[in-house]
Amino acid sequence: MNYRRCGDSGLLLPEISLGFWHNFGHHDDLPEARQIMRRAFDRGVTHFDLANNYGPPAGSAEENVGRILAEDFACHRDELIITTKAGHDMWVGPYGEWGSRKHLLASLDQSLKRLRLPYVDIFYSHRPDPDTRLEETMSALATAVHSGKALYVGLSKYPLKQLKKAVKILAGMGVRCVVYQPPYSILNRWPEAEGILDYLHDEKIGSVVFSPLAQGMLTPKYLEGIPEGSRAARPEGFLQEEQVAAQQKKLRKLSKLAAKAEMSINHMAINFTLAHKAVTSSIIGARTVAQLDDSLDALEAPKLNSATLKAIDKIAPALKSE
Ligand SMILES: NC(=O)c1ccc[n+]([C@@H]2O[C@H](COP(=O)([O-])OP(=O)(O)OC[C@H]3O[C@@H](n4cnc5c(N)ncnc54)[C@H](OP(=O)(O)O)[C@@H]3O)[C@@H](O)[C@H]2O)c1
Repeated sequence: MNYRRCGDSGLLLPEISLGFWHNFGHHDDLPEARQIMRRAFDRGVTHFDLANNYGPPAGSAEENVGRILAEDFACHRDELIITTKAGHDMWVGPYGEWGSRKHLLASLDQSLKRLRLPYVDIFYSHRPDPDTRLEETMSALATAVHSGKALYVGLSKYPLKQLKKAVKILAGMGVRCVVYQPPYSILNRWPEAEGILDYLHDEKIGSVVFSPLAQGMLTPKYLEGIPEGSRAARPEGFLQEEQVAAQQKKLRKLSKLAAKAEMSINHMAINFTLAHKAVTSSIIGARTVAQLDDSLDALEAPKLNSATLKAIDKIAPALKSE
């Protein structure tokens, strides 16, 4: 595993990180989830990405990961970067989501309880809140650092204008925005088209991108339909059949391109994200140990050459509207 510096911070992150959005909730195969975590760590994945609401039910991914961390990883805590986030819909009532100090700091306390940890390494504002002043949300992140409950803070999915403003506000509070987390894949090049990746590179802020396989679409599984057990076939999955259908033509073209470049479409997809100069780490998901191994093997595949990158641009150009 190679480790890349997260912007100009002291933090090094593995090129591939593991996320727990799906596959670690109470409805999932927990013995397999435990093996996935253990295998990832054995292969050098030192960064585990969570959020308050991952499951389902919301919170259950943190509970399950907390149990596995206590039982299997207790002596490895200082070798791990554990992140969590707050901002999406989490509990009932007016304080259960968005960007108030109340929500962020209560949520962080709840996450620490579920994770059975005294602190997380990175705490994110999971999304911008249109109705709360940025100063308030950023003050909650600063408090998280000053109280020792988070070592670093980051922002996720903020549009460029708000991101720039938030970074400045945080700096004024003596806290660096160390990392930004956007979606990024061959099928979703929004942060590239919006100039966000260039801004992060120029400002030396780390960029940890998520869903490099576009939730599994950038694998061979959906070329001929929706296979049983896949995310698009599961009622609790966030991938809709219509999303898959809308991309199928592109997927077939990308699949042919990968074959021409003598690599799997999954490896092409993961290495596409890692080819951008701004990207620190790409966060994958895995439902089985075999999927995890396959994704990590991307790091041993040849790097994408300029002809392949140009062909990708033609099939799936960077568009602002994604
Ligand atoms: N900040 C945010 O707002 C945000 C939002 C979303 C995600 N994230 C983070 O990013 C992480 C990764 O997201 P993601 O799970 O969408 O990532 P992804 O790597 O794009 O998709 C992972 C899914 O692809 C399928 N897959 C993986 N390897 C495969 C293989 N070799 N063959 C066939 N199918 C394969 C599996 O789904 P099947 O069940 O279909 O097999 C797997 O669960 C999340 O866990 C979370 O930590 C953050």
